[in-house]
Amino acid sequence: MAPVDPHSFTDSNHPFATHISLSLYLDFPSSTIHGSALLSFPNPHSGPLSLDARSLAIHSVIDPESSASLPFSLSPPDPIRGCHLTVSLANHSSVLIVFSTSPSSSALQWLSPPQTFNKTYPLVYTQCQAIHARSVFPCQDTPAARVRYSARLNVPRQLSAVMAARHVDKRAPVAGEGSLLACGDQLWCAEGRAVEEFVMEQPVPPYLFAFAVGEIGFREVGPRTRVYAEAAPAVLDSAAREFAGTEDMIKQGEWLFGPYDWERFDLLVLPPSFPYGGMENPRMVFLTPTVIKGDASGAQVVAHELAHSWTGNLITNKTNDHFWLNEGFTTYAERRIVEAVQGEEKAVLNIGIGWRGLNEEMERFKDNMEFTKLKTNQEGVDPDDVYSQVPYEKGFQFLWRIERQVGRPAFDEFVKKYIATFKFKSIDTDTFLDFLKANIPGIEKEVDLVLWTEGTGIPPDAYEPVSSLYTQIVSLANEFKLGRMPREDEVADWQGQEWELYLENLPKSVEASQILALDERYRLSESKDYEVKVAFLQLAISAKCRDYYGEVEKTLKEVGRMKYLRPLYTALVQGNGKEEEKILAKRVFAEARDSYHPIAQSVVESILSKHL
Ligand code: BES
Ligand code: ZN
Repeated sequence: MAPVDPHSFTDSNHPFATHISLSLYLDFPSSTIHGSALLSFPNPHSGPLSLDARSLAIHSVIDPESSASLPFSLSPPDPIRGCHLTVSLANHSSVLIVFSTSPSSSALQWLSPPQTFNKTYPLVYTQCQAIHARSVFPCQDTPAARVRYSARLNVPRQLSAVMAARHVDKRAPVAGEGSLLACGDQLWCAEGRAVEEFVMEQPVPPYLFAFAVGEIGFREVGPRTRVYAEAAPAVLDSAAREFAGTEDMIKQGEWLFGPYDWERFDLLVLPPSFPYGGMENPRMVFLTPTVIKGDASGAQVVAHELAHSWTGNLITNKTNDHFWLNEGFTTYAERRIVEAVQGEEKAVLNIGIGWRGLNEEMERFKDNMEFTKLKTNQEGVDPDDVYSQVPYEKGFQFLWRIERQVGRPAFDEFVKKYIATFKFKSIDTDTFLDFLKANIPGIEKEVDLVLWTEGTGIPPDAYEPVSSLYTQIVSLANEFKLGRMPREDEVADWQGQEWELYLENLPKSVEASQILALDERYRLSESKDYEVKVAFLQLAISAKCRDYYGEVEKTLKEVGRMKYLRPLYTALVQGNGKEEEKILAKRVFAEARDSYHPIAQSVVESILSKHL
């Protein structure tokens, strides 16, 4: 066996499937999908074929031509990779696998009607990155693979399905379509069901597979953009307002990085339990509702997910060891878009927040320096457990360093050529470095490429940004340590990001009395902006300022975005003499767990288990 990816059972001696045809019957009452996946290969293959599966029941494996059953075996689950599904082929160029998911499938969150905004219908959605596509259907779940697919989703007729793919049709079920599935044809064709059909004609890595089904509506916000969300006018209208500037950003992206290759750029605003800020599912980005703040700052997250259309979705990291190729490049691209549409001052502020974050990660990984590298070794490591700012911010710093070396015009030309050369390919760090050296001759003499990509920590030629606003905020934060609070006239123009930068630059060891005084004046604990609120609450927990524990609990129960859950739970359980906080964390998690996405559930579990 020759693995291609530490997180997958995919074998380099086996062919990659190039097309998958999915039939999925969504059973809301049992939080289960009964499905089949028809995997097609470019050439006939004989012998074993390794696939990934997680929390799947495999009912049968069938030769689609003869309808004969084929032998298969399913290993017991590995804690990180899940199950190794081996099917035996004999000169087959396609194979049909009949399966069911389980209610605990890690990619899927099933929301009951009371957990939705309208409280009338259930809702389900996927989050497949990094390695959760295998919990929806069996596949070679590595970003080294690229597949085209088609999907039929059988859903209750009153609901709508959306996918990161082209919508083809909503139609009545046809007799026979469900006969091989575990639900059977009777349920497939039952009264009140509809089939939504989609195709993804461009080859994508499996982690970009995505759908959502619920009472979903939309608003038009641009020539190639709709915003979708739960069909409630208040939700749709505020989302449409927040994202009105999307088309300008797409145009800017095209100007910087080349044509937008995915035709549509739709946005889907999910319920507050969505575990990320945004997810770059092609043609339809998935977003947390916490980015809707009414001040257009949600545009930064959209800029980031949009940038992935080039860096990540066109050029993809071959494995998670090279995750920085996705996120570092995208963070760089995001800031170029933000600079173009919101100005340099905003971009510098973002760079400054990132710089602070990068320095904090060095502290987090001080006993595990492997994860301060750009090129990492994730053998035996769950990518969700080591998710950090390092690939984003150190990756950004690396590219920014090269930009400073060669100048912006030359770097822009390099990036365009890089994208045009590797689009629809999955590459590793060495491929990038070879291309860099070939196109910018002598770069290795100016920038220590080995130190940047293989070394730990922050290289000496990384760069803290400068701008008068950034510098002023950081020095105000330093003065707070000496007891001076910012005056009203100094913060009059501050929006969320300014406060975020300020709070993140305060020492972790401020006194409870100072916390109270700051909040008395600026009401940060009541901020509608979760970035501000969570940064403040983190300080409050560190200072053991119990007045805010009610607000901490409320926050942990209303949002499931891991960017907020991680620091709050960590602040509660980390360190000595925290008995009360640990009890609080345990209780709140027990009460909130069911409302979190499975990925967030296990990330919080792993934080608590480290400290309790
Ligand atoms: N692709 C990531 C989200 C992700 C990473 C999901 C790893 C699963 C595993 C997405 O593009 C992202 O980076 N989102 C950020 C947005 C921010 C950087 C603007 C987030 O969710 O906070
Ligand atoms: Zn990203």
